Parts: sequence; C-alpha cells; structure tokens
Amino acid sequence: MAELVWEGKYRDGQRARASTSGPPRVLHERHGEGASEGLLVAGDRCEALASLLPSHAGTVSLVYIDPPYDTGGSFQSTRRLGNDVTLRRKAYDDARGTDGWLAFMDPTLELLHALLAPDGVLFAHCDWRSNAYLRVLLDERFGAGCFRNEIAWRRAPNLGRQAASRQLGRTLDTIFVYSRTPGAALRGEAPRRSTIVPLDARGRPEGARWDPLREAFFTTAPRGDYTDASIARLRAEGRVHDSPSGKVSIKYFLVRDATGRWCKEQPIDTLWDDAEVRPLRHRPRSEDLGYDTQKPEGLLERIVRWATRPGDLVVDCFSGSGTTAAVAARTARRWIAVDSGEAAVSTTRRRLVGLDGAAPWDLATVGAHPLRNAGSATLRRGFDGASAFVELTGFAPDAASPALASLATWTDAVDAWFVDDAWDGEVFRARSVIRRGSDGALPLRARVRPGAVVRVRVVDVAGAEADVTVE
Ligand SMILES: C[S@@+](CC[C@H](N)C(=O)[O-])C[C@H]1O[C@@H](n2cnc3c(N)ncnc32)[C@H](O)[C@@H]1O
Repeated sequence: MAELVWEGKYRDGQRARASTSGPPRVLHERHGEGASEGLLVAGDRCEALASLLPSHAGTVSLVYIDPPYDTGGSFQSTRRLGNDVTLRRKAYDDARGTDGWLAFMDPTLELLHALLAPDGVLFAHCDWRSNAYLRVLLDERFGAGCFRNEIAWRRAPNLGRQAASRQLGRTLDTIFVYSRTPGAALRGEAPRRSTIVPLDARGRPEGARWDPLREAFFTTAPRGDYTDASIARLRAEGRVHDSPSGKVSIKYFLVRDATGRWCKEQPIDTLWDDAEVRPLRHRPRSEDLGYDTQKPEGLLERIVRWATRPGDLVVDCFSGSGTTAAVAARTARRWIAVDSGEAAVSTTRRRLVGLDGAAPWDLATVGAHPLRNAGSATLRRGFDGASAFVELTGFAPDAASPALASLATWTDAVDAWFVDDAWDGEVFRARSVIRRGSDGALPLRARVRPGAVVRVRVVDVAGAEADVTVE
C-alpha cells in the first residue's frame, strides 16, 4: 500500500496520536444575553479542539479550514487609524517545511474528524504548495471513499505579476470536500448559479418558450446521458419538451429574481469563478479587514448554505479574520472559531462586535493564548440627574505597541469599550458595547445601573485589553 511518511508520524513504531487532553478552556468574555450560539477560542487549534471533544464530539455539521499553506513566508495585518497612522503587525508565520507542516496538520485533522457528526462534512482550503500533501492526508484520515469534491476557486484575476511570471498565473486555490461517512448527503441546499436572461424585442426572455401549464418560461437542453427511466420520471414532472420532429429535450424553467427579471438557474460544478464567490479585492471595501489571507464572505456563504441548515454547528480552527464565524452568525448557524494569533483574534472580535443582531457568543482562551491585558484606563462614575453613568476619562496604551503612541489623542487608541454593570467578579459580560459612530467619534459615557459594581474593559486598536473596576 502506498503511504505518505513524515518525521514524527510514528513514535516507537506506533502511529502518533493527537493528544486528547490538555489545558482547560477558560471563559473570558460573554456577548449578548441568553444561551451562546458562538464561541471564539484564543489559543492553539489542537488544544482548543481537544477541549471541545467531551462536549462536542460527533456534533459538528461543517468544518471549514484554511490553514497556513507552508508558503515559507509570513503574513501581516494592516489597519489604518486616525492621524494617518498605519498599524502593521505580523499576523502569523508560515514556514514549517514539508515534514513540519504534515506533523502540524495530521493531529488537527484527527481531532476535527472526531468532532464531525456522522452526516458532517469537511472543507479544507489550500493552494498549489500544499494541495497534493493535504489530499493524501485527508484520504488517510477520512478514507478515500469519503472524498466528495475538489473545488477550484479563482482567488485572483490573472493580472500583473501573476500573468507576467515564467509560468501560467497561479490564480486558483483548491478546496477539498470530504464527508464523515461515504456518500452522506450535504445538509443544506446545493449551490446554484443564477444568470439574468436578456429580453428580446418582444420583451420575452431571449430563446425561451412559454409553458402554459406552469405559466413560466423555459429553455431546453439535449437529453444527454439521461436514461429512458429518467426521461419517464422527468416527463411525469412536466420537464420534457417534444419537438415537432420528435426530438426529446429537457426543460429548464426560468425563475424571477427579487426585482422581477427572468433568470436561468444552473447547478454549480467544481469550478468556482462566478460573481458570488469573487475574490476579496472585488468585494465592497468595507469587507476588507486588512488581514492578508482573508477569504471573501461570498465563498464561505456558499459553503455554509450548502453544508448546513440554520442551527447547525460550524467549526473553523484557523479563523484568521473571522470570515467563517461572521458568515455562520449572519446565516443563523452556531459556530466555533479558533486562532492562536493576536491579530486574528482581535480582528475576529472586532468583526463580531460590529455584526448587528448577532446571537450571543463567548470568547474563551486555552493554554498559552494571545490575549494581552496591557495599558491602563481611568474612569469616572457619576449621575447626570436622570441616570447613573461611567465615563472613560483616559487611556494609556501598552508600551509594546509603539504605533499607538504616535496617535493624536488617547481616544484614537481605543477601538471599543465594554461595560459590565452587574460584575460578579468572575465572568466578564459585555452588557454594553461602545464603539465608534459612523462619524468616527467614540462615545465616552455609558449608562449603568445605579449602585452596581461596574467593570469596564477597554480594547485598544491593537487588540490589547485594559480592565478597570469601579465600586
Ligand atoms: C490562512 S489564515 C486563515 C484566514 C481566514 N480563512 C480568513 O478568512 O481570514 C490561517 C490562520 O491560521 C492561524 N494559525 C496558525 N497556526 C495556528 C495554530 N497553531 N492554532 C490556531 N491557529 C493557527 C493563523 O494565525 C492564521 O490566522
């Protein structure tokens, strides 16, 4: 039998196994009232996944991973702040070498496999550097019979340096799809592509015929390799068109979009280069969070809607800028996102805090996590005649973030501040979240319950936190 072997795959002649015990997960912050539907874990992927096993083994409907690809480089996170200051910091290193990369991925896949439900599915995103190795790893872990698809996603147009290099433009990423059980149906709706059909001179969709029974336009395509039995079934559904010469073809009904235009809907194949999944650079600028390897929400939305139903659980243990968590939250799925990088965790937290109407979610840490309590804030407590308030009166950022020292005012260094006005001394609950308004101004006062012990968490623009309690 052919086998991929790497340094560390066997220990003392035994196949190395992922550790299923490790440091406990510690709840760090809660957002929203009620049962949590999301969990962001700051820490290493294996420690986080191992901590989930007792409660979540066999329950996850979708795993999407977009791990480091062993590019040999390092990636950045860039954020423009007030006063023309750009905060540029390392997001993560990506140079493990082939053996190191395989030894990094193998236990990750073992733990993810254990978390998947029997009808769960894993989407693993990679590029030309790691796809051959990842495919073999996945075949070994899931079994070749669980392979479902190899999707080619156009991640960039063939322009500039790509197009002028000595080989053809490397503009595609690969996404492997494996189900936990061979042949299991994906739980959501199969993705379809919708194309607007132009109207002819009579105002009818070009090349379409009218079906008086269905009261809809349709186009036709040859029967191809449909068997006679399939044709009989389609005929019973009113989907067969017989031409006057006796030729049989299949009807494809047009549908109206939200604005009433006639559209042709076609099932999607494994080449994903259409408008819905276009690269980040062609998405609205507001979506770009400056995280180097950020993926577009359209791509994740297609995957999430295909693989899950509302209420299902989605896991991403290489969260980066939080694309999977944001899409899952927006489409009413439960989610767990993990990342070990400070830039990733702070970007994901900011993204989730900015989502209107998101269900309650928690932030937890595991092991040696990247959250930093640094900097210091001062508060004033008062009463304005109608209600009690706390006022943020000053903030000194952490000295380890020199870019923040060049900001014009101390408020420029504050990204957001959270207030827990029923502080129980244990779990911080962000009962009020104070963020910049559309004019960029940061409100400095927040209403609080009179007489309550108040804890305030100030999060600076680099993601570090400063906590203050006022009795
Ligand atoms: C390609 S990026 C993911 C980008 C993400 N899909 C997005 O849309 O923003 C890979 C991520 O893996 C994270 N990572 C690297 N090593 C890790 C580890 N040991 N545990 C958890 N996350 C890790 C990096 O910090 C980085 O954010």
